[in-house]
Amino acid sequence: MKRRIFLNGSMNIDGNTARLAEEVFQGFDYTPINLAEHHINQIGQNISGQSDDFHNVMKQLIMSDDIVIGTPVYWSSMSGYLKTFIDRFADTLDAPLAGKRVYLIIQGTAPDDAVPFITNVICHLCRRFQMKYMGLATNSSEASKLHNLIVNIK
Ligand SMILES: Cc1cc2nc3c(=O)[nH]c(=O)nc-3n(C[C@H](O)[C@H](O)[C@H](O)COP(=O)(O)O)c2cc1C
Repeated sequence: MKRRIFLNGSMNIDGNTARLAEEVFQGFDYTPINLAEHHINQIGQNISGQSDDFHNVMKQLIMSDDIVIGTPVYWSSMSGYLKTFIDRFADTLDAPLAGKRVYLIIQGTAPDDAVPFITNVICHLCRRFQMKYMGLATNSSEASKLHNLIVNIK
C-alpha cells in the first residue's frame, strides 16, 4: 500500500492549500502534516539544547511514497514555514528520499510572480535528493491532472 503525505506550509490547516491537496489525493488515504502545528528551528539555531520536530517530520517523509508539498504565497514567495523546513534538509543530506514522488501545490490571490521561484526551489530539492518531481497545481483543473497521475501509479 502506498503511503501518502500532505506537507502543508500554510498557517491555515483547512485553507485553500489544504483544499487543493484534498483534490489531488481525492479518494485516497493520506496523512496531513501541518507545519504550523510543529516547532521547527531555523537552520543553525540552537536554543539551549531545545529539540524540535524536524527529524520526526523528516521520518514521516522517508516512510512515504507520494508527497504533496503545499504552500500559500506570502509576499511573492513560499511561506516561512515551508522555507524553514526546506533549509533544514541541509542537516540530513544523506536522507533516503530517492524515488519519492513530489507534487507541488501553490495557492495565492495573484501567485504568478511567485510560481517560477517556488517551483525552482522544489525542483532543486528534488534533484538533490533524487526525488521525482511530478508537477504543479495552482487550481482545480491542474489538481485533477496531478490526481490522475496518482491514480495511474501502479
Ligand atoms: C502574509 C500574507 C502574504 C500574502 N502575500 C501574497 C502574495 O504576495 N501574493 C499572492 O498571490 N497572495 C498572497 N497572499 C494570499 C494567500 O497566498 C492566499 O490567500 C492563499 O490562498 C492562502 O492560502 P491558505 O488558505 O492555505 O492559507 C498573502 C497572504 C498572507 C497571509
